[in-house]
Amino acid sequence: MADAQDILSLCKRRGFLYPSYEIYGGVAGMYDYGPLGTALKNNIIEIWRRLYTLGEGFIEIDSETIGPEMVFKASGHVDEFADKMVKCKACEEPYRADHIVSDLHPNAGALSEREIEELIRKNNVVCPACGGELSNVEEFNLMFKTTIGPGSGRVGYMRPETAQGIFVNFPNLYRYNREKLPLGVIQVGRGYRNEISPRQGMIRLREFNMMECELFVDPEDKTWPRFGDVAGDAIRLLTNDGQEMEVTVGDAVEKGVICNQVLAYFMWFTQEFLKAVGIDGEKLRFRQHEKDEMAHYAMDCWDAECLLSYGWTEIVGIADRGCWDLSRHATFSGVEMSSFKRFDEPQEIERDKIKPQYDKLGPMYKGKAGKIGKAMEEADPENVVDGSITVEVDGERFTISSDCFDVVKVKEKVSGVRRVPHVIEPSHGLDRIIYSVLEHSYTQREDQTVLRLPSAVAPIKVGVFPLMARDGLDDLAAEIDQELRFGGIETYYDESGSIGRRYARMDEIGTPWCITVDYRTKEDGTVTLRERDSTSQVRVRFHDVLKVVQTALCGADLSEFVINE
Ligand code: GLY
Repeated sequence: MADAQDILSLCKRRGFLYPSYEIYGGVAGMYDYGPLGTALKNNIIEIWRRLYTLGEGFIEIDSETIGPEMVFKASGHVDEFADKMVKCKACEEPYRADHIVSDLHPNAGALSEREIEELIRKNNVVCPACGGELSNVEEFNLMFKTTIGPGSGRVGYMRPETAQGIFVNFPNLYRYNREKLPLGVIQVGRGYRNEISPRQGMIRLREFNMMECELFVDPEDKTWPRFGDVAGDAIRLLTNDGQEMEVTVGDAVEKGVICNQVLAYFMWFTQEFLKAVGIDGEKLRFRQHEKDEMAHYAMDCWDAECLLSYGWTEIVGIADRGCWDLSRHATFSGVEMSSFKRFDEPQEIERDKIKPQYDKLGPMYKGKAGKIGKAMEEADPENVVDGSITVEVDGERFTISSDCFDVVKVKEKVSGVRRVPHVIEPSHGLDRIIYSVLEHSYTQREDQTVLRLPSAVAPIKVGVFPLMARDGLDDLAAEIDQELRFGGIETYYDESGSIGRRYARMDEIGTPWCITVDYRTKEDGTVTLRERDSTSQVRVRFHDVLKVVQTALCGADLSEFVINE
């Protein structure tokens, strides 16, 4: 298995990734994508986007990356989004507390502060850098804080997830969707987390790329229309009670291992996406979060984990966020964040209603008593706090105590109900996916690196070479190169060095096909087409090249184009 050093050095040498601000010594947890990395990233995004938009009919938005404090108070990130930290008392180096004891516990991420402190004390864990004594565990909020405009009063944060941009737009998006559920919304963009001590290359970044989907569903109907099509497919699970199993998606739901069809369907969907972009299906599993490991917003959560040289690593989190986000934004903003479910036929329902005692309101509120009573009748009895209800009339607030009203049961005919939708969220760490694809594609052939990237994600699809850069072979190769590029196919034209060396350069960056123009081309109008993984070569007609390459990139049979020797 390749290790991170092999991958990162290849990435830097060949232009996939560069450590950010390298000329100034670099910054931990920050990387820039080079030309090949950017192309690889864009290709993966495009496959993901198409699966969700074309495949599932979801919509895409692009929201702000900075948000005012209120948004993240509502989302819970101001109060909850923290990692546990210890510092060396001697050299002051900070460490993630759960990471420092990870060898001492199978799921250190789920431990409390006290449990971690106890492990540190019992096992005499010291600072890995200088051997100094470690501090007590403290919480460190991971959001980057800023101000929006001048002045210190307008606190803002860099978003720690793209998701909140979707939640705060729910009323707009629900209207756009003609007030129907399910409503699937995707977003691709940067997230920011001020990681305590990122030491794992691409795995833990402070500024990172996410691909998130927020799927709003009726809380009382977590079935999925296409579930039946995938129910027979297998999925590998590790449950939070430690059971490892390979089961069908259908069985997992039937036996209650995965709590609903929507969650299960999108776990399967994630698995298929990851395999399509080059993750080895044999090194992929879904691990259920333990109850005390889950993010503050989640009811249930499964991580798609990939086996890397770092060990099993989360690359996608698929959470049932319940009604957490929309309910909180409704409370904090005062804006309705619900959907309306229309019944097939109007139904009679019984509900609680506030019935004002007008004979008491009259003497107390005189001319305003009528309007106050009406506002009380319209108020939700759930908003009765400590026996009083507060209503607003003509911009003035009135708190009315319970001796001026009763809560009674009434029967009403209604055409539907309002409910706060639940959210199922597949959230993808794009940089981790890219790293995993590189590690799983990395192979060695006779001391030579070959990246076995699927054609669809390979940054360069075809290397185009003249055997010699003379005798008109170069002109013919340049003609092919131009035809392919104008046909929308990324090529790399190379006329320098031995042909073996040129193939090797393409193998190392994952280019699936190479075309070589040689002296025979001038005699019979054919060129060689070489495949990366088998290194096998066939001859095809010069004039067929565009069609041949299009066919090859789809993975279709090429035999109709092959010229027999
Ligand atoms: N939105 C998922 C996460 O923040 O990890």
